[in-house]
Amino acid sequence: MASIAIVGLGPVGLCSGVAFATQGHRVVAVDIDSKRRQEIARGKPPFYEKGIEAALRKVLRQKRFSVAETMEEAIGPSTVVFLCVGTPSRSDGSMDDGALRDAVKSLAAAWKDEKRRTVVVKSTVLPGTADGVVRPILEAARRPFRLGVNPEFLREGRALEDALRPDRIVLGADGPETARILKGLYRSAKCPLFSTDVKTAEAVKYATNAFLATKVAFADELANLCDAFGISYDEVHKGLGLDPRINPRFLVPGVGFGGSCLPKDVRALVAAGRRRGAEPVLLEGVLAQNDQQYLRAIARLEEELGDLKGKRIALLGLAFKGDTDDVRETRAVPIARTLLSKGALVIGYDPLAGPAFSALLPEVKIADSAKEALDGADGVVLQADWPAFSRLTAKDFLTAMATPVVVDGRRILDPKKMQGVRFRRIG
Ligand code: UGA
Repeated sequence: MASIAIVGLGPVGLCSGVAFATQGHRVVAVDIDSKRRQEIARGKPPFYEKGIEAALRKVLRQKRFSVAETMEEAIGPSTVVFLCVGTPSRSDGSMDDGALRDAVKSLAAAWKDEKRRTVVVKSTVLPGTADGVVRPILEAARRPFRLGVNPEFLREGRALEDALRPDRIVLGADGPETARILKGLYRSAKCPLFSTDVKTAEAVKYATNAFLATKVAFADELANLCDAFGISYDEVHKGLGLDPRINPRFLVPGVGFGGSCLPKDVRALVAAGRRRGAEPVLLEGVLAQNDQQYLRAIARLEEELGDLKGKRIALLGLAFKGDTDDVRETRAVPIARTLLSKGALVIGYDPLAGPAFSALLPEVKIADSAKEALDGADGVVLQADWPAFSRLTAKDFLTAMATPVVVDGRRILDPKKMQGVRFRRIG
Protein backbone atom coordinates (compact mmCIF):
# COMPACT_ATOMS: atom_id res chain seq x y z
CA MET A 1 0.00 0.00 0.00
CA ALA A 2 1.26 3.47 -0.88
CA SER A 3 1.69 6.60 1.14
CA ILE A 4 -0.12 9.35 -0.78
CA ALA A 5 -0.22 13.13 -0.39
CA ILE A 6 -3.23 14.98 -1.79
CA VAL A 7 -2.79 18.67 -2.60
CA GLY A 8 -6.13 20.47 -2.94
CA LEU A 9 -9.27 19.46 -1.06
CA GLY A 10 -12.03 20.32 -3.50
CA PRO A 11 -14.50 17.58 -4.47
CA VAL A 12 -11.87 15.85 -6.65
CA GLY A 13 -9.07 15.89 -4.05
CA LEU A 14 -11.31 14.94 -1.15
CA CYS A 15 -13.20 12.15 -2.92
CA SER A 16 -10.04 10.73 -4.50
CA GLY A 17 -8.21 10.89 -1.17
CA VAL A 18 -11.03 9.24 0.76
CA ALA A 19 -11.33 6.57 -1.94
CA PHE A 20 -7.58 5.81 -1.80
CA ALA A 21 -7.77 5.61 2.00
CA THR A 22 -10.83 3.34 1.82
CA GLN A 23 -8.85 1.05 -0.47
CA GLY A 24 -6.11 0.77 2.16
CA HIS A 25 -3.60 3.45 1.16
CA ARG A 26 -2.33 5.93 3.74
CA VAL A 27 -3.37 9.46 2.74
CA VAL A 28 -2.30 12.86 4.10
CA ALA A 29 -4.09 15.82 2.51
CA VAL A 30 -3.50 19.56 2.50
CA ASP A 31 -5.25 22.68 1.23
CA ILE A 32 -4.31 26.38 1.34
CA ASP A 33 -7.72 27.18 2.89
CA SER A 34 -7.34 26.78 6.66
CA LYS A 35 -11.11 26.72 7.34
CA ARG A 36 -11.48 23.91 4.82
CA ARG A 37 -8.60 21.99 6.42
CA GLN A 38 -10.15 22.29 9.86
CA GLU A 39 -13.62 21.27 8.74
CA ILE A 40 -12.37 18.22 6.86
CA ALA A 41 -10.11 17.21 9.77
CA ARG A 42 -13.25 17.27 11.96
CA GLY A 43 -15.11 15.06 9.47
CA LYS A 44 -17.22 17.88 7.97
CA PRO A 45 -16.91 18.15 4.19
CA PRO A 46 -17.40 21.78 3.10
CA PHE A 47 -19.59 20.77 0.13
CA TYR A 48 -22.24 18.18 -0.61
CA GLU A 49 -21.22 14.86 -2.15
CA LYS A 50 -23.29 11.76 -1.66
CA GLY A 51 -21.78 9.48 1.01
CA ILE A 52 -18.64 11.54 1.57
CA GLU A 53 -19.28 12.51 5.20
CA ALA A 54 -19.63 8.93 6.47
CA ALA A 55 -16.73 7.68 4.35
CA LEU A 56 -14.50 10.56 5.50
CA ARG A 57 -15.30 9.94 9.16
CA LYS A 58 -14.53 6.26 8.78
CA VAL A 59 -11.06 6.78 7.25
CA LEU A 60 -10.29 9.53 9.80
CA ARG A 61 -11.18 7.10 12.61
CA GLN A 62 -9.06 4.37 11.03
CA LYS A 63 -6.22 6.90 10.79
CA ARG A 64 -5.80 6.12 7.13
CA PHE A 65 -6.67 9.69 6.16
CA SER A 66 -5.46 12.83 7.87
CA VAL A 67 -5.23 16.53 7.13
CA ALA A 68 -1.88 18.28 7.41
CA GLU A 69 -1.43 21.90 8.40
CA THR A 70 1.48 22.44 6.01
CA MET A 71 2.69 21.13 2.65
CA GLU A 72 5.87 19.87 4.33
CA GLU A 73 3.86 17.80 6.78
CA ALA A 74 1.61 16.50 3.97
CA ILE A 75 4.37 15.29 1.69
CA GLY A 76 6.73 14.09 4.46
CA PRO A 77 5.72 10.41 4.48
CA SER A 78 4.51 10.30 0.86
CA THR A 79 5.96 8.52 -2.14
CA VAL A 80 3.19 9.76 -4.45
CA VAL A 81 1.83 13.33 -4.54
CA PHE A 82 -1.48 14.04 -6.30
CA LEU A 83 -2.09 17.61 -7.45
CA CYS A 84 -5.85 18.21 -7.31
CA VAL A 85 -6.18 22.00 -7.52
CA GLY A 86 -8.64 23.83 -9.76
CA THR A 87 -7.90 25.09 -13.28
CA PRO A 88 -10.70 27.63 -13.83
CA SER A 89 -11.43 29.70 -16.95
CA ARG A 90 -9.87 33.12 -17.47
CA SER A 91 -12.16 35.82 -18.89
CA ASP A 92 -11.01 34.93 -22.46
CA GLY A 93 -11.93 31.28 -21.89
CA SER A 94 -8.33 30.06 -21.60
CA MET A 95 -7.24 27.77 -18.77
CA ASP A 96 -5.91 29.50 -15.67
CA ASP A 97 -3.00 27.41 -14.37
CA GLY A 98 -2.16 29.88 -11.56
CA ALA A 99 -3.30 27.62 -8.72
CA LEU A 100 -1.39 24.69 -10.21
CA ARG A 101 1.82 26.75 -10.51
CA ASP A 102 1.42 27.93 -6.91
CA ALA A 103 0.82 24.38 -5.67
CA VAL A 104 3.90 23.02 -7.46
CA LYS A 105 6.05 25.90 -6.19
CA SER A 106 4.87 25.26 -2.67
CA LEU A 107 5.52 21.52 -3.14
CA ALA A 108 9.05 22.22 -4.40
CA ALA A 109 9.75 24.55 -1.47
CA ALA A 110 8.48 22.03 1.08
CA TRP A 111 10.38 19.08 -0.46
CA LYS A 112 13.51 19.19 1.63
CA ASP A 113 14.56 15.54 1.63
CA GLU A 114 16.13 13.55 -1.21
CA LYS A 115 13.30 11.01 -1.45
CA ARG A 116 12.21 10.28 -5.03
CA ARG A 117 8.49 11.01 -5.32
CA THR A 118 6.01 10.47 -8.11
CA VAL A 119 4.12 13.71 -8.75
CA VAL A 120 0.75 13.09 -10.40
CA VAL A 121 -1.42 15.78 -11.96
CA LYS A 122 -5.09 15.00 -11.36
CA SER A 123 -6.25 18.55 -12.09
CA THR A 124 -7.75 18.92 -15.58
CA VAL A 125 -4.90 20.44 -17.60
CA LEU A 126 -4.36 21.09 -21.29
CA PRO A 127 -1.95 18.80 -23.14
CA GLY A 128 1.59 19.91 -22.42
CA THR A 129 0.91 21.37 -18.95
CA ALA A 130 2.58 18.64 -16.87
CA ASP A 131 5.74 18.84 -18.99
CA GLY A 132 5.56 22.60 -19.56
CA VAL A 133 4.52 23.85 -16.11
CA VAL A 134 5.03 21.18 -13.45
CA ARG A 135 8.30 19.65 -14.70
CA PRO A 136 10.31 22.91 -15.00
CA ILE A 137 9.40 24.02 -11.47
CA LEU A 138 10.45 20.70 -9.94
CA GLU A 139 13.58 20.54 -12.09
CA ALA A 140 14.59 24.07 -11.08
CA ALA A 141 14.24 22.99 -7.44
CA ARG A 142 16.44 19.94 -8.24
CA ARG A 143 14.01 17.49 -6.68
CA PRO A 144 14.25 13.76 -7.59
CA PHE A 145 10.83 13.19 -9.14
CA ARG A 146 8.83 11.14 -11.60
CA LEU A 147 5.89 12.70 -13.40
CA GLY A 148 2.45 11.29 -14.13
CA VAL A 149 -1.03 12.42 -15.14
CA ASN A 150 -4.16 10.70 -13.92
CA PRO A 151 -7.29 12.55 -15.10
CA GLU A 152 -10.43 12.22 -13.03
CA PHE A 153 -13.78 11.20 -14.48
CA LEU A 154 -15.88 11.98 -11.39
CA ARG A 155 -19.44 13.22 -11.80
CA GLU A 156 -20.31 15.84 -9.19
CA GLY A 157 -22.74 14.47 -6.65
CA ARG A 158 -21.52 10.93 -7.37
CA ALA A 159 -17.82 11.66 -7.14
CA LEU A 160 -17.13 9.26 -4.28
CA GLU A 161 -19.00 6.41 -5.96
CA ASP A 162 -17.09 7.10 -9.21
CA ALA A 163 -13.77 7.24 -7.32
CA LEU A 164 -14.47 3.95 -5.53
CA ARG A 165 -15.82 2.16 -8.60
CA PRO A 166 -14.34 3.80 -11.69
CA ASP A 167 -15.41 2.56 -15.12
CA ARG A 168 -11.96 3.29 -16.56
CA ILE A 169 -8.60 4.58 -15.40
CA VAL A 170 -6.31 6.63 -17.61
CA LEU A 171 -2.67 6.92 -16.60
CA GLY A 172 -0.04 9.05 -18.25
CA ALA A 173 3.53 8.27 -17.27
CA ASP A 174 6.96 9.70 -18.09
CA GLY A 175 8.48 6.22 -18.12
CA PRO A 176 7.88 2.52 -17.32
CA GLU A 177 8.72 2.87 -13.62
CA THR A 178 6.16 5.71 -13.19
CA ALA A 179 3.57 3.60 -15.03
CA ARG A 180 4.28 0.66 -12.71
CA ILE A 181 3.87 2.85 -9.60
CA LEU A 182 0.61 4.37 -10.86
CA LYS A 183 -0.83 0.98 -11.80
CA GLY A 184 0.04 -0.26 -8.32
CA LEU A 185 -2.19 2.42 -6.77
CA TYR A 186 -5.17 1.02 -8.65
CA ARG A 187 -4.45 -2.67 -8.06
CA SER A 188 -7.93 -3.28 -6.64
CA ALA A 189 -9.82 -1.59 -9.52
CA LYS A 190 -11.98 -3.84 -11.65
CA CYS A 191 -12.07 -1.79 -14.85
CA PRO A 192 -10.02 -1.16 -17.96
CA LEU A 193 -6.77 0.63 -17.22
CA PHE A 194 -5.21 2.57 -20.08
CA SER A 195 -1.60 3.54 -19.71
CA THR A 196 -0.08 6.08 -22.09
CA ASP A 197 2.25 9.07 -22.14
CA VAL A 198 1.67 12.20 -20.09
CA LYS A 199 0.47 14.50 -22.88
CA THR A 200 -1.96 11.93 -24.28
CA ALA A 201 -3.51 11.35 -20.84
CA GLU A 202 -4.06 15.10 -20.54
CA ALA A 203 -5.70 15.10 -23.99
CA VAL A 204 -8.00 12.15 -23.17
CA LYS A 205 -9.66 14.18 -20.40
CA TYR A 206 -10.44 17.09 -22.74
CA ALA A 207 -11.52 14.75 -25.53
CA THR A 208 -13.98 13.10 -23.12
CA ASN A 209 -15.55 16.30 -21.79
CA ALA A 210 -15.63 17.89 -25.25
CA PHE A 211 -17.47 14.84 -26.61
CA LEU A 212 -19.94 14.79 -23.69
CA ALA A 213 -20.66 18.51 -24.19
CA THR A 214 -21.12 17.90 -27.92
CA LYS A 215 -23.58 15.07 -27.18
CA VAL A 216 -25.70 17.34 -24.97
CA ALA A 217 -25.57 20.25 -27.44
CA PHE A 218 -26.54 17.82 -30.22
CA ALA A 219 -29.48 16.52 -28.16
CA ASP A 220 -30.60 20.09 -27.48
CA GLU A 221 -30.38 21.04 -31.14
CA LEU A 222 -32.14 17.86 -32.23
CA ALA A 223 -34.92 18.57 -29.72
CA ASN A 224 -35.27 22.11 -31.13
CA LEU A 225 -35.51 20.63 -34.64
CA CYS A 226 -38.11 18.10 -33.43
CA ASP A 227 -40.16 21.06 -32.16
CA ALA A 228 -39.81 22.77 -35.55
CA PHE A 229 -41.02 19.61 -37.32
CA GLY A 230 -43.75 18.89 -34.77
CA ILE A 231 -42.40 15.45 -33.83
CA SER A 232 -41.56 13.87 -30.48
CA TYR A 233 -37.90 13.86 -29.43
CA ASP A 234 -38.53 10.81 -27.24
CA GLU A 235 -39.46 8.69 -30.24
CA VAL A 236 -36.59 9.98 -32.39
CA HIS A 237 -34.19 9.38 -29.46
CA LYS A 238 -35.40 5.78 -29.12
CA GLY A 239 -34.68 5.10 -32.77
CA LEU A 240 -31.38 6.99 -32.69
CA GLY A 241 -30.09 5.19 -29.60
CA LEU A 242 -30.52 1.81 -31.29
CA ASP A 243 -27.40 2.47 -33.33
CA PRO A 244 -24.66 0.93 -31.17
CA ARG A 245 -22.20 3.52 -32.50
CA ILE A 246 -24.34 6.26 -30.92
CA ASN A 247 -25.98 4.76 -27.78
CA PRO A 248 -28.86 6.48 -25.98
CA ARG A 249 -26.94 7.85 -22.96
CA PHE A 250 -26.14 11.53 -22.27
CA LEU A 251 -28.65 12.68 -24.88
CA VAL A 252 -31.24 14.28 -22.59
CA PRO A 253 -32.20 17.67 -24.08
CA GLY A 254 -33.29 20.65 -22.04
CA VAL A 255 -31.92 24.04 -21.06
CA GLY A 256 -28.26 23.26 -21.78
CA PHE A 257 -25.22 22.07 -19.85
CA GLY A 258 -23.64 23.87 -16.90
CA GLY A 259 -21.28 22.96 -14.10
CA SER A 260 -17.65 23.42 -13.28
CA CYS A 261 -16.32 21.16 -16.02
CA LEU A 262 -18.03 20.86 -19.41
CA PRO A 263 -18.32 24.61 -20.23
CA LYS A 264 -14.88 25.46 -18.82
CA ASP A 265 -13.06 22.57 -20.50
CA VAL A 266 -14.61 23.15 -23.92
CA ARG A 267 -13.78 26.86 -23.69
CA ALA A 268 -10.18 26.09 -22.68
CA LEU A 269 -9.77 23.65 -25.58
CA VAL A 270 -11.24 26.14 -28.06
CA ALA A 271 -9.01 28.97 -26.79
CA ALA A 272 -5.86 26.79 -26.83
CA GLY A 273 -6.74 25.30 -30.24
CA ARG A 274 -7.24 28.77 -31.74
CA ARG A 275 -3.89 29.93 -30.39
CA ARG A 276 -2.26 27.02 -32.18
CA GLY A 277 -4.01 27.75 -35.48
CA ALA A 278 -6.59 24.94 -35.35
CA GLU A 279 -10.04 26.48 -35.88
CA PRO A 280 -12.26 24.31 -33.64
CA VAL A 281 -15.49 25.34 -35.39
CA LEU A 282 -17.50 22.37 -34.14
CA LEU A 283 -16.67 23.06 -30.48
CA GLU A 284 -17.27 26.79 -30.97
CA GLY A 285 -20.69 25.76 -32.25
CA VAL A 286 -21.27 23.59 -29.18
CA LEU A 287 -20.63 26.59 -26.92
CA ALA A 288 -22.79 28.89 -29.05
CA GLN A 289 -25.63 26.35 -29.04
CA ASN A 290 -25.39 25.95 -25.28
CA ASP A 291 -25.30 29.71 -24.66
CA GLN A 292 -28.73 30.20 -26.23
CA GLN A 293 -30.49 26.94 -25.33
CA TYR A 294 -31.94 28.24 -22.05
CA LEU A 295 -33.99 30.77 -24.05
CA ARG A 296 -36.19 27.86 -25.16
CA ALA A 297 -37.58 27.63 -21.62
CA ILE A 298 -38.40 31.34 -21.62
CA ALA A 299 -40.07 30.98 -25.03
CA ARG A 300 -42.29 28.15 -23.69
CA LEU A 301 -43.40 30.37 -20.80
CA GLU A 302 -44.17 33.24 -23.17
CA GLU A 303 -46.13 30.96 -25.50
CA GLU A 304 -48.32 29.96 -22.55
CA LEU A 305 -48.46 33.19 -20.56
CA GLY A 306 -47.83 35.98 -23.08
CA ASP A 307 -46.01 39.00 -21.65
CA LEU A 308 -44.11 37.92 -18.50
CA LYS A 309 -44.21 41.38 -16.89
CA GLY A 310 -45.61 41.07 -13.36
CA LYS A 311 -45.90 37.28 -13.64
CA ARG A 312 -44.78 35.14 -10.72
CA ILE A 313 -42.40 32.42 -11.98
CA ALA A 314 -41.07 29.60 -9.83
CA LEU A 315 -37.59 28.32 -10.68
CA LEU A 316 -37.07 24.84 -9.29
CA GLY A 317 -33.45 23.71 -9.20
CA LEU A 318 -30.78 26.37 -8.79
CA ALA A 319 -27.70 24.12 -8.83
CA PHE A 320 -26.33 23.20 -12.27
CA LYS A 321 -27.93 19.76 -11.90
CA GLY A 322 -29.58 17.68 -9.19
CA ASP A 323 -27.72 16.07 -6.27
CA THR A 324 -25.18 18.87 -5.91
CA ASP A 325 -24.97 22.27 -4.22
CA ASP A 326 -22.72 23.60 -6.99
CA VAL A 327 -24.04 26.65 -8.84
CA ARG A 328 -21.06 27.14 -11.15
CA GLU A 329 -22.34 27.99 -14.65
CA THR A 330 -25.82 26.88 -13.66
CA ARG A 331 -28.40 27.61 -16.34
CA ALA A 332 -30.60 28.93 -13.51
CA VAL A 333 -28.63 32.21 -13.65
CA PRO A 334 -29.33 33.20 -17.28
CA ILE A 335 -32.91 31.93 -16.94
CA ALA A 336 -33.54 34.04 -13.82
CA ARG A 337 -31.75 37.09 -15.28
CA THR A 338 -33.85 36.97 -18.44
CA LEU A 339 -37.08 36.53 -16.48
CA LEU A 340 -36.18 39.47 -14.23
CA SER A 341 -35.29 41.64 -17.24
CA LYS A 342 -38.75 40.89 -18.63
CA GLY A 343 -40.33 42.15 -15.41
CA ALA A 344 -41.23 38.77 -13.90
CA LEU A 345 -41.00 38.03 -10.18
CA VAL A 346 -38.76 34.97 -9.72
CA ILE A 347 -39.02 32.63 -6.73
CA GLY A 348 -36.29 30.02 -6.63
CA TYR A 349 -35.97 26.81 -4.69
CA ASP A 350 -33.26 24.18 -4.46
CA PRO A 351 -32.82 21.44 -1.84
CA LEU A 352 -29.18 22.57 -1.28
CA ALA A 353 -28.05 25.42 -3.51
CA GLY A 354 -30.29 28.29 -2.28
CA PRO A 355 -27.61 30.21 -0.33
CA ALA A 356 -24.96 29.85 -3.03
CA PHE A 357 -27.43 31.00 -5.69
CA SER A 358 -28.50 33.98 -3.57
CA ALA A 359 -24.89 35.13 -3.46
CA LEU A 360 -24.87 35.17 -7.29
CA LEU A 361 -28.29 36.72 -7.85
CA PRO A 362 -29.75 38.32 -4.71
CA GLU A 363 -32.75 39.66 -6.67
CA VAL A 364 -34.25 36.18 -6.73
CA LYS A 365 -36.41 35.39 -3.73
CA ILE A 366 -35.54 31.97 -2.29
CA ALA A 367 -38.34 29.76 -0.97
CA ASP A 368 -37.94 27.12 1.74
CA SER A 369 -39.68 24.39 -0.24
CA ALA A 370 -40.84 23.54 -3.75
CA LYS A 371 -44.42 23.94 -2.51
CA GLU A 372 -43.73 27.47 -1.25
CA ALA A 373 -42.09 28.43 -4.58
CA LEU A 374 -45.08 27.06 -6.50
CA ASP A 375 -47.63 28.81 -4.31
CA GLY A 376 -49.56 31.32 -6.43
CA ALA A 377 -47.08 31.02 -9.33
CA ASP A 378 -48.17 31.69 -12.90
CA GLY A 379 -45.51 29.36 -14.27
CA VAL A 380 -42.64 27.11 -13.22
CA VAL A 381 -39.37 26.13 -14.87
CA LEU A 382 -37.71 22.90 -13.72
CA GLN A 383 -34.01 23.57 -14.17
CA ALA A 384 -32.22 20.76 -12.27
CA ASP A 385 -32.98 17.04 -12.17
CA TRP A 386 -33.37 16.63 -8.41
CA PRO A 387 -35.12 13.32 -7.59
CA ALA A 388 -37.60 15.23 -5.38
CA PHE A 389 -38.75 17.28 -8.38
CA SER A 390 -39.36 14.17 -10.48
CA ARG A 391 -41.87 13.09 -7.80
CA LEU A 392 -44.01 16.24 -8.25
CA THR A 393 -47.51 15.35 -9.45
CA ALA A 394 -50.13 17.12 -11.54
CA LYS A 395 -52.05 17.63 -8.28
CA ASP A 396 -49.10 19.46 -6.70
CA PHE A 397 -49.08 21.95 -9.58
CA LEU A 398 -52.86 22.27 -9.86
CA THR A 399 -53.44 22.93 -6.17
CA ALA A 400 -50.55 25.34 -5.60
CA MET A 401 -50.26 27.42 -8.76
CA ALA A 402 -52.37 30.34 -9.98
CA THR A 403 -51.99 29.03 -13.55
CA PRO A 404 -50.51 25.56 -13.93
CA VAL A 405 -47.89 26.26 -16.63
CA VAL A 406 -45.03 23.80 -16.18
CA VAL A 407 -41.87 23.94 -18.32
CA ASP A 408 -39.83 20.80 -17.71
CA GLY A 409 -36.32 21.92 -18.65
CA ARG A 410 -34.71 18.58 -17.69
CA ARG A 411 -37.24 16.00 -18.94
CA ILE A 412 -37.88 14.59 -15.48
CA LEU A 413 -41.68 14.46 -15.46
CA ASP A 414 -43.92 12.08 -17.39
CA PRO A 415 -46.20 14.13 -19.70
CA LYS A 416 -48.78 11.31 -19.60
CA LYS A 417 -49.26 11.97 -15.86
CA MET A 418 -49.72 15.73 -16.23
CA GLN A 419 -53.47 15.86 -16.97
CA GLY A 420 -54.88 19.34 -16.46
CA VAL A 421 -51.41 20.93 -16.45
CA ARG A 422 -50.23 23.13 -19.31
CA PHE A 423 -47.12 21.00 -19.61
CA ARG A 424 -44.28 21.95 -21.95
CA ARG A 425 -40.78 20.68 -22.57
CA ILE A 426 -38.11 21.10 -25.20
CA GLY A 427 -38.48 18.53 -27.99
C1 UGA B 1 -18.77 16.05 -16.02
C2 UGA B 1 -18.55 14.68 -16.65
O1 UGA B 1 -19.78 13.99 -16.84
C3 UGA B 1 -17.64 13.82 -15.76
O2 UGA B 1 -17.36 12.60 -16.43
C4 UGA B 1 -16.35 14.59 -15.53
O3 UGA B 1 -15.47 13.86 -14.72
C5 UGA B 1 -16.65 15.91 -14.87
O4 UGA B 1 -17.52 16.67 -15.73
C6 UGA B 1 -15.33 16.62 -14.68
O5 UGA B 1 -14.69 16.97 -15.69
O6 UGA B 1 -14.87 16.71 -13.54
P1 UGA B 1 -20.40 16.97 -14.10
O7 UGA B 1 -19.91 18.34 -14.47
O8 UGA B 1 -20.48 16.57 -12.67
O9 UGA B 1 -19.50 15.84 -14.81
O10 UGA B 1 -21.88 16.88 -14.68
P2 UGA B 1 -22.67 16.03 -15.76
O11 UGA B 1 -23.46 15.00 -15.11
O12 UGA B 1 -21.76 15.62 -16.87
O13 UGA B 1 -23.67 17.16 -16.32
C7 UGA B 1 -23.17 18.35 -16.94
C8 UGA B 1 -24.30 19.21 -17.43
O14 UGA B 1 -24.91 18.61 -18.59
C9 UGA B 1 -25.45 19.39 -16.43
O15 UGA B 1 -25.90 20.72 -16.48
C10 UGA B 1 -26.52 18.42 -16.92
O16 UGA B 1 -27.80 18.81 -16.55
C11 UGA B 1 -26.31 18.50 -18.42
N1 UGA B 1 -26.76 17.28 -19.14
C12 UGA B 1 -26.16 16.08 -18.93
C13 UGA B 1 -27.79 17.39 -20.07
O17 UGA B 1 -28.36 18.47 -20.31
N2 UGA B 1 -28.18 16.25 -20.75
C14 UGA B 1 -27.60 15.05 -20.55
O18 UGA B 1 -28.03 14.07 -21.21
C15 UGA B 1 -26.58 14.96 -19.60
